[in-house]
Amino acid sequence: MSTDARHPTEPAAGLTIRRALPADVRAIRDLVDPYAERRILLAKDLVGYYEAIQEFLVAERGGEVIGCGALHVMWDDLAEVRTLAVRTDVRGTGVGHLLLDALLDRARELRLSRVFCLTFEVKFFTRHGFAPIAGSVVDREVFHQLLLSRDDGIAEFLDLARVKPNTLGNTRMLRELSGPGAPDAVSG
Ligand SMILES: CC(C)(COP(=O)(O)OP(=O)(O)OC[C@H]1O[C@@H](n2cnc3c(N)ncnc32)[C@H](O)[C@@H]1OP(=O)(O)O)[C@@H](O)C(=O)NCCC(=O)NCCS
Repeated sequence: MSTDARHPTEPAAGLTIRRALPADVRAIRDLVDPYAERRILLAKDLVGYYEAIQEFLVAERGGEVIGCGALHVMWDDLAEVRTLAVRTDVRGTGVGHLLLDALLDRARELRLSRVFCLTFEVKFFTRHGFAPIAGSVVDREVFHQLLLSRDDGIAEFLDLARVKPNTLGNTRMLRELSGPGAPDAVSG
């Protein structure tokens, strides 16, 4: 992973992006909680993190988890980037960009062609080729299949009335991936 030449700091110095382990769950929960309290991210119980741990990547520096993010598969071509969080004291130093790059690489490995996100961070996701979308991005049949899910993130993706209070002010964004191994669309 390379350092962005536009920025003076070296986000990659001493930073490892790796698959999350069950032992990281409490650190992930501590990262997410401040954002969940402000309704920026969905809150989860500890068991929810354990169940989802294989979806997570973490950013680690000096033995500490300073960022996390998950890729949640929704259909054969589609996943969501969710729970992307960087510890408040290291925001703005490039950790989030490295995590999102790695999550998009993961989506390509899984041969997915579209990645969704629901976010207040429109500029940040735009830098990674995401664009705002309106309406549904799945056909009727897939929509009805997704309705069977009990996952709150899926309910948010479907824009169901019961989760509207969670999604107020968020922007729905989609990134098309042009194929496995395709270069990322970050532009300066
Ligand atoms: C969104 C979020 C994950 C971004 O993480 P981050 O580590 O702060 O992001 P970065 O530092 O990589 O980039 C943010 C800005 O920092 C600056 N930056 C990036 N790399 C930098 C570097 N090496 N040195 C200095 N500044 C840098 C840039 O101005 C960048 O702006 P850009 O988005 O226009 O490129 C973080 O703000 C967060 O945890 N937000 C709350 C949760 C959330 O909203 N998650 C998204 C929905 S799931």
